[in-house]
Parts: sequence; structure tokens; C-alpha cells
Amino acid sequence: MIALKLSEIARITGGRLVGALDAIDAAGADPLVDGPVVTDSREATDGSLYIARIGEELDGHQFVAAARSQGAVAALTSRPVAELPSVVVRDVQAAFVALAHALVELNDQAVVIGVTGSSGKTSTKDLLWSVLQRHGETVANVGSLNSEVGVPLTICRITPTTAYLVLEMGSRGPGHIDYLTRIARPQIAVVLNVGTAHVGEFGSREAIGRAKAELVQALPATGFAVLNADDPIVWGMASQTQARVIGVGESAQANVRALDISLDPQGRASFTIACDQGKAPVVLRFYGEHHVGNALAVAAVALTVGMSLPDVAVALGDARPLSRWRMEVHERADGVTVVNDAYNANPDSMRAALQALSAMGRGRRTWAVLGEMRELGRESAGEHEALGRLAVRLNVSRLVAVGEGTQPIDSGARDEAAGDELGDESTWVPDTDAAYELLRQDLAPGDVVLVKSSRDAGLRWLGDRLLDATGSEVTS
Ligand SMILES: Nc1ncnc2c1ncn2[C@@H]1O[C@H](COP(=O)(O)OP(=O)(O)O)[C@@H](O)[C@H]1O
Ligand SMILES: [Mg+2]
Repeated sequence: MIALKLSEIARITGGRLVGALDAIDAAGADPLVDGPVVTDSREATDGSLYIARIGEELDGHQFVAAARSQGAVAALTSRPVAELPSVVVRDVQAAFVALAHALVELNDQAVVIGVTGSSGKTSTKDLLWSVLQRHGETVANVGSLNSEVGVPLTICRITPTTAYLVLEMGSRGPGHIDYLTRIARPQIAVVLNVGTAHVGEFGSREAIGRAKAELVQALPATGFAVLNADDPIVWGMASQTQARVIGVGESAQANVRALDISLDPQGRASFTIACDQGKAPVVLRFYGEHHVGNALAVAAVALTVGMSLPDVAVALGDARPLSRWRMEVHERADGVTVVNDAYNANPDSMRAALQALSAMGRGRRTWAVLGEMRELGRESAGEHEALGRLAVRLNVSRLVAVGEGTQPIDSGARDEAAGDELGDESTWVPDTDAAYELLRQDLAPGDVVLVKSSRDAGLRWLGDRLLDATGSEVTS
């Protein structure tokens, strides 16, 4: 982070500087905070500021001593603490946000890039990091830390020389993205798609669209809105921003277009980027056609900040997955390919993953091992049933629906196959142990198996277990 004395943090947050009550801190009451800002005491290192949040179950004030032993020099708290000098405030979250806001203001050359959408935020954020860091120092969220805690944590990692601050912004309701954009106002906004992720909380797809539009509404007139021109709800956001709109997609109205998309036998996409700067071929190392749209959005941002088209195309081709369990492909020693895409799931990302599976499975036996898609509210049963039908239409060889809430996947598949032999290739099992047993017995060399579910359904561990003890290597 940008180094600050604790007294400056007190001024920024409107808090009160209180020395360590047991006065054992050698750095004195006004230490220099020059290490990472952390909310988890285990992540503190030398010079850290520890933010003591009060969560639903735990009170962060209990971990001040732990943070100190890891090297933290100060804490942000809502009451005086014994073990570290602290800034005491009434509202720790508000103070944390004020600190993040002040830090980003201290580096006024950093271009802030906000990324949102129903699916693909983390993949796109990672890809943006891979491409932009070739052009200038880039800070991006770690993993999927995209909330009111993750975003300020990311912002606090800015340095005096950061050129690009890439912020994945998540939304679980109206006002969430607006809140995040007030911490660091984006100059460039990327909206990937509007699907049905979390529709249970939002009520409708239109409501999700309104929530995502908060990102483009936050742009200044001098900013840029990178919008998916193939998604009508996203494209409709063009009228809701003062900023210049850059359309990305396959449609003719897109400014940065993908032409001639093809998938190799492993399901990796190649295409030609066509834009004002000309045309360039791109070969992605990511699995699934859905990454083309993400790559176009990244290209649009990179071109906007001044990278040349050939550099962008090369950087996209060199990029590798950074976050786990997103179309993670492993070859087992026995010739089984395991595709673990079980970080999370919603109807759109399920569709994308099944399409990738069918591309990867040409001439091979394919398995879709699918767990529950959570947070779909009233639409849950219908969406699961549609997923089962889709698996049959895409000719998945064997379907395994795993756990509570997934019976409609199995019944949808049987119904779609309607007496066809395929219906017998669909199985429902109660839990991941049962799925593991089934796979252990029936997987054969050459099979491709996709494992996917919402995070809480936990199928990513099943995917990892399928690799244990077989000697496998990551090929992505
Ligand atoms: N553009 C896209 N459209 C549909 N699914 C996608 C897209 N990009 C990624 N995915 C899939 O969505 C899931 C979540 O990806 P991730 O990048 O973690 O998104 P998010 O951060 O929005 O949850 C993964 O299964 C991934 O393969
Ligand atoms: Mg994410």
C-alpha cells in the first residue's frame, strides 16, 4: 500500500488515535503503516494495518494479538485494544472505505477499471491483469474478493506507481455496485452479461440489469463503457452513461469484434479480433467459447489505454488461468480428462461449460457431473430441469446429478430423452461420496468428465478427489 502514518489514517477516517493499552509496542503510538491492509489476522505481515471487523459470528477485535504476532503495526477498531496502537472509529466499515478512497486519490494517475456481469467477472479480471501488467503496474482483486470488503482490500494494495487498478465488482442487490464505485470511481467500466445468477435475491433479470447498470452510471463523461453488444440488456446500458461506449461481441454493431471463432479438439477458442486498429489472430489457452467474449472485453480495455493490437493479441494468447476451479483441465495418468469448473454455477455458466464439454468430447465419452445451482429462488426447479434437457441435447454421454435440489436435472434429462437409451444414462446420487464411488467404478481411459456446481454444493472437492493418487498434471 501507499505508506501512511497512523495519525494520517486517523485524520482520513475521522478516528481517534489510541496507543496500545499495554504499551508494549516499540514503534510507539504513531507507527508507519507500510504493509498490506488486512481483515484476516493470518494475512498480516510486517507493517500491516489490521482492520477489526465485527462479523456475524466472530468479532475481529479478538484477533488483534494474532495480527500483531504476524507483524501488524496498527489496527482499525471500534474500541481501544490492548495489543496494538489503533485508530478507534464508530463504524469500521465506513472508515475502511474512507481509507481506501483516500489511497486511490493519492495516486491520481492510476486508471480504475470496474468489471461486472453475471458470469465471467473473475476470469475477465484475471485476464485483464495478465494483459495490462505488460503495459504498466497492475493491481487486481485476489480471487473473487469483489464485495464491500474485497474491493476496499484490493484498492488498499495500490502503490504510488500503480498504473491500472482492476476491480471486479459483485452485486447481490440494488445499490451494491454504486457503493463500490464511490470508493474508487472507474474511468473504464466493463459489463460482460446479464444472466440469472442470484435471480432469487434480485427478483428478475431486468432487476439484475438495473443493478449492473450502476457501474456505467458511475463513469465520467471522459470515461469508457465496454459493453457486450451481443447481450440486449447490457447493450441497452449504452443510453445510461455519459461515457463513450465501446461495443464488444460477434454482432456487426460491436466496435471490437470476434470473427471466425473456432474451437480446437480440447475446446480452446481461436478467433480474429477486428477493430479500428485492424485485425489480429488470437489463440486462447482457456477452455470454452465463452472466453471469447471475455477476451474481447479485455482487448477493448487494453486498446483504450493505448496498447497496440498486436501486443494485445500476443498477451491474450500468453495468458493462463490464475484462479482455481474455473474450467481447470487436468489429464490423469490413466487418460481420463477432468474438467473442474465447480467454483460456482448459474444457468449461463452451466450452459457454457456443457458446450465446452461437448467440444472437448468429440469422439470421446463425456460425463457431466452436476451439482445444485443455488440462489435461483422460484426458478430453481425449472432451471435445473432445463439443464438436464440441455445435457441430452448436447449429447453428453453420462449425466450424474449430485445431491439435494438436483433431481430435476435427472428428470429433465430423462424426459428429453423420452425413452431413448440416453435416459438410462442419467443418474441421481445423494452426495459427492456416492458420485465419487460411481465415477471410480465407471470412468474409463479416454473419458472426459466435467464437474460443476455452485460453490456451497462443494463439487470442486469432488473434482480434486478425482485427481488424487492418479498422478495428474494441469494442462491449462
Ligand atoms: N462470459 C461468460 N459467460 C458464461 N459463463 C462464463 C463466462 N465467463 C466465465 N464463465 C464461467 O462462469 C463461471 C464463473 O466464472 P468466474 O470468472 O468466476 O465468474 P464470476 O466471477 O462472475 O462468478 C465459470 O464456470 C466460468 O467458466
Ligand atoms: Mg468472481
